[in-house]
Amino acid sequence: MAKDKGKISERELYKRFREIWERAQSDACEVRGSEIHGRGVYATRDIAAEEKIIEYVGELISKDESGDRGTAQAEHASATGDAAVYIFNLTKKWDIDGNVPWNTARLINHSCDPNCEAWQTGKRIYIHALRDIPEGEELTFDYGFDIECYEDHPCLCGREACVGYIVSRSQWEELDEKLGRGKSSEKAS
Ligand SMILES: C[S@@+](CC[C@H](N)C(=O)[O-])C[C@H]1O[C@@H](n2cnc3c(N)ncnc32)[C@H](O)[C@@H]1O
Ligand SMILES: [Zn+2]
Repeated sequence: MAKDKGKISERELYKRFREIWERAQSDACEVRGSEIHGRGVYATRDIAAEEKIIEYVGELISKDESGDRGTAQAEHASATGDAAVYIFNLTKKWDIDGNVPWNTARLINHSCDPNCEAWQTGKRIYIHALRDIPEGEELTFDYGFDIECYEDHPCLCGREACVGYIVSRSQWEELDEKLGRGKSSEKAS
């Protein structure tokens, strides 16, 4: 009997998984084929500015584990050209790795003119609307990628303000200099 101490029953495990799965659902959005890339997440009804749309769930991992996974994701990204955007900084000790199939929000694509943003509330991360979003519009947020290896991440967001690459807004000026062109920020809203 003593060896079972601390073990979680199958019933408890199911209950915990069900809770997380339910947290990852939303009545405001669903997954559809995207015009930007692969699958994306679309508004299923009108969403008001600042409204909480969906939780970005994932696996709670220590900073050490996060460092290892971050390196692995970066290596995978440079080998395949895929972007790695799944790890969120949570607390001094913990991060969230959203690379789990039940995390619908992981399918939200990047845009240079995004309509959503990830906000942290306590130890949870939620996707909120940055402005009013009409039913049927694709949800997007800024992946905030570093300019290093920008050529590996061409952006297909299709917005007028698109800078051509998935690069953090804070580095757009540097990107413009590299590409020898005028200020992208002047096109952005
Ligand atoms: C977290 S996934 C988003 C879901 C993805 N569309 C899918 O079907 O799996 C991130 C990947 O989507 C693609 N992606 C997201 N936003 C993009 C954009 N604006 N332009 C081009 N590719 C994008 C990139 O390949 C990136 O590696
Ligand atoms: Zn873009």
